[in-house]
Amino acid sequence: MKKILLALAALTAGLQASGSTEPAATLKSPDGNLELSFWLENGGVPKYSLTHKGTDVVLPSLLGFELRGTVKAEKISFEGDEITKTDVRPCYSFAEGFELTGTETDSFDEVWEPVWGEESQIRNHYNELLVKLRQTDSDKLMNVRFRLFDDGLGFRYEFPSGQPLTYFVIKEELTEFAMAGDHFSWWIPGDYDTQEYEYGECRLSEISENFQKQVVGNSSQTFFSTSGVQTSFQMKTDDGLYINIHEAALVDYPCMHLLVDGDTHVLRSWLTPDAQGWKGYMQTPCNTPWRTVQVAESATEQLASRLVLNLNEPCAYDDVSWIHPVKYMGVWWEMIAGYGSWAYTNASSVKLDSFDYTKATPNGRHSANNERVRQYIDFAAENGFDAVLVEGWNIGWEDWSNCSKDYVFDFVTPYPDFDIAALNDYAHSKGIELIMHHETSSSVRNYERHMDEAYDLMNKYGYSSVKSGYVGDIIPRGEYHYGQWMVNHYLYAVKKAADHKIMVNAHEAVRPTGLCRTYPNLIANESARGTEYQAFGGTQPKHVTILPFTRLNGGPMDFTPGIFEMNLKEWCGNNSHVNATIANQLGLYLTMYSPLQMAADTPEHYSEFMDAFQFIKDVAVDWSESRYLYAEPGDYIVVARKAKDDGQWFCGGVTDENAREFEISLDFLGDGKYTAEIYADAPDAHYLTNPQAYEITSKKVTAKDKLKIRMAPGGGFAVAFKPL
Ligand code: NOJ
Ligand code: CA
Repeated sequence: MKKILLALAALTAGLQASGSTEPAATLKSPDGNLELSFWLENGGVPKYSLTHKGTDVVLPSLLGFELRGTVKAEKISFEGDEITKTDVRPCYSFAEGFELTGTETDSFDEVWEPVWGEESQIRNHYNELLVKLRQTDSDKLMNVRFRLFDDGLGFRYEFPSGQPLTYFVIKEELTEFAMAGDHFSWWIPGDYDTQEYEYGECRLSEISENFQKQVVGNSSQTFFSTSGVQTSFQMKTDDGLYINIHEAALVDYPCMHLLVDGDTHVLRSWLTPDAQGWKGYMQTPCNTPWRTVQVAESATEQLASRLVLNLNEPCAYDDVSWIHPVKYMGVWWEMIAGYGSWAYTNASSVKLDSFDYTKATPNGRHSANNERVRQYIDFAAENGFDAVLVEGWNIGWEDWSNCSKDYVFDFVTPYPDFDIAALNDYAHSKGIELIMHHETSSSVRNYERHMDEAYDLMNKYGYSSVKSGYVGDIIPRGEYHYGQWMVNHYLYAVKKAADHKIMVNAHEAVRPTGLCRTYPNLIANESARGTEYQAFGGTQPKHVTILPFTRLNGGPMDFTPGIFEMNLKEWCGNNSHVNATIANQLGLYLTMYSPLQMAADTPEHYSEFMDAFQFIKDVAVDWSESRYLYAEPGDYIVVARKAKDDGQWFCGGVTDENAREFEISLDFLGDGKYTAEIYADAPDAHYLTNPQAYEITSKKVTAKDKLKIRMAPGGGFAVAFKPL
């Protein structure tokens, strides 16, 4: 690791009185292409702007907050029989009346090694500017720390201690990102509880009119505006610049959404509220998460940006030997598709304390039974997997969702047909671990109440990872999935899991912001529309060409690829169609980076296509190098990656509903000769009409060769390069 501290000629900072129109301080990225300016406008209003090679990226934009006043005041009004109590605490602006009391500059350059990742070494290289502000009439202090990298900007607010601001409540964060044009954008609707949407693709000015179309069919209704969007928010300018807005290191703070002004193209932060409508509860010294503006000259550059990870703190654990990538199968898709059930009985109401499962009638479809789980273990062991997830193993699934039930699961009691000791022994005897499942049904207070016991049980039987889930409305009632209270819960669960040497894959949690750098036992999240929606009505093929630009910008996704049987009707009467070809499903193991990769289909379905399944067996899950070769959000992604353990190269791609052909130069291969095992769509493959048509060919290649590969509509490809 190297760390260089330099006094930089590139940094210019001088103190100026409030009200200046000249920048009080400017900062350049290490390569000089990006330039940030900070100044106080008339009335001491903090503003910043950003340019790339002299072109505007962020026009003058506001920094600051609206805070809740400290005087407690309520108004009670009577109207007929109705009594209303209103909180009338005055709020005040913390975005004006500032003076600049000082600036500090710094520079940083290091190479760090992630525990797992898309590469084994990541360079963290930036110039930094800290501006120190004092609100003159209140004496309250706020600093803004800017970090400028070659691939973008990060900045956060810092509230030092030893000042009049001690405890404070945020009514709203007023940060603006004023875009310089009506950029094209890829977005999902702003929602306090879910990200499980398909992406809208349109200009900033068109988001509002397209909003309704995007939210149709989604049951969660916590939209705050028809022009609200979630981050990571990808844009492209007419000049071909890629701009992405997200946040890094979301800790003890609500998740940020963006409000898009279609006329002015100004994006404004909009934080997730708590049950009372307030947004953030702070105590100095403290800081906000980093606000990020990534800037790339190409889509492949955007995908290779590690800015969000770099803005997170280094690993918090001394010993990481227990954290490792996982390739797994699971008793899962058969329930999602409707073939089996999580619940053991057909009872519609269960009181966990008193319901006697040993006397209840089994429904005959319970998938997590001893025999079925053994079949998965056998198949996973025969094919070199690490683990098998089992959902529906524990009591309580009969009325688990939509009942707003407090005590819904105890996380420790198996159903009568799931012998937890025997199944773990059996799995371990075959070199397989079982993956624990904790569906909380969003009764989070109940989960926290049982967490110690639940993790102890995992240690007792040798589980080293847990998939947790937060389906439904949060209890405590009125809280949102992305509010500060829940943000704190997710991290609490991850840290507590670390005390038990347990890795976490949380579904429905807040979208990742690079915290996996600091807490690498957070090996994946869902936090987007995953493969399950292929069984809930389907998802358009282009979805997987957008996720790497948006959702994956903050961390890996448990996307659960690998579906081989697209016709669910024949299998289990499900009318949904899986909108992908088999070659597309293979390509996802490369394009959707995650150290946790599932082969999501059933042993029976894979058994019909063992030659194609070979790629899932072979593909690595941890990488020393990644090279994005071709990409365009909404259209296609092609990437080559080198396995961390044995240096083997793989390449894969996916396309949207259009067929595409690419010529792939193999110059990433080292010296020597290789057999390229190519898994491609057959010429007549099509995601709707002929999804299972693939061709497997072998070719001797060297680094000098080029491969021509065609992807069918909704298709993809995968290549394993085996050294000769
Ligand atoms: C939603 C999750 O995304 C899915 O993977 C899981 O099977 C169900 N919840 C049940 O927990
Ligand atoms: Ca497209």
